[in-house]
Amino acid sequence: MTPLYEGKAKRMWATDNPDTLRMEFKDEATAFDGKKKAQFENKGRLNNAISTLIYGMLEKEGIPTHFVRQIDETNVEVKKVEILMVEVIVRNLAAGSFSKRTGIEEGHVFTQPVIEFSYKSDALGDPLINDDYIREMNLATPGELAHLRKSAFKVNEILSAFFAKCGLKLVDFKLEFGRLACDPSVIVLADEISPDGCRLWDLKTGEKMDKDRFRRDLGNVMEAYEEVLGRVRENLA
Ligand code: ADP
Ligand code: TMP
Ligand code: ASP
Repeated sequence: MTPLYEGKAKRMWATDNPDTLRMEFKDEATAFDGKKKAQFENKGRLNNAISTLIYGMLEKEGIPTHFVRQIDETNVEVKKVEILMVEVIVRNLAAGSFSKRTGIEEGHVFTQPVIEFSYKSDALGDPLINDDYIREMNLATPGELAHLRKSAFKVNEILSAFFAKCGLKLVDFKLEFGRLACDPSVIVLADEISPDGCRLWDLKTGEKMDKDRFRRDLGNVMEAYEEVLGRVRENLA
């Protein structure tokens, strides 16, 4: 058996149902568009567990997602979508590429959340794009883009409040959306929500609890993911 698609962190497999896929979380970690790579035992299990709990919570809060069910420790069944090639990033505090681009130091708190879009292309390094690029590149219709913006801010409200309960500051995160294969007029939240694609800082100590531990060689990467999972579990119970 070969997967339909093998990405940097996951494999997508066909199922018996033409409208769903099996999404398998791998133990691989990459950064800087795949230029930096490492293997972390349990990463797939931890990201699957965290993402499954977060998706369950978002569904309960009325956010339509691709999530169907957890199959086992490293696999979930998801609704098949045509991924929009736009990554939607929401930032509550300056960090990462925002700080690099603007000179505004990491940790600066924004007066309102900042949204940005990047073109999902490893070959081009996921470049920053705007509404006009999205229109001219036919990445999403104006109606779809309005929906992405609205949903991303709503997800930010839900996740920021939830992670605060977990003693974590949601600094920024990346979302992906897709058109349902069975009805392309419906857009749902897809891919994963895990410490791979979110910056989470401990509210008390400021410690980084996300993939920046790997990107910046801070050590204890899986220990941080395990701690995030523990807190997410505790606060959903
Ligand atoms: P990448 O392609 O960035 O290396 P991954 O290793 O995470 O990423 O691979 C997962 C791929 O599957 C991504 O390209 C993602 O956009 C895509 N994907 C996520 N959810 C779905 C879905 N429900 N249906 C189809 N494709 C999806
Ligand atoms: P950035 O500051 O590097 O642009 O990252 C912003 C957020 O998006 C951060 O939480 C990490 C996440 N992210 C991804 O999920 N995938 C990516 O390819 C990049 C660059 C960032
Ligand atoms: N997700 C990207 C990569 O795997 C970049 C990152 O998260 O830093 O290369």
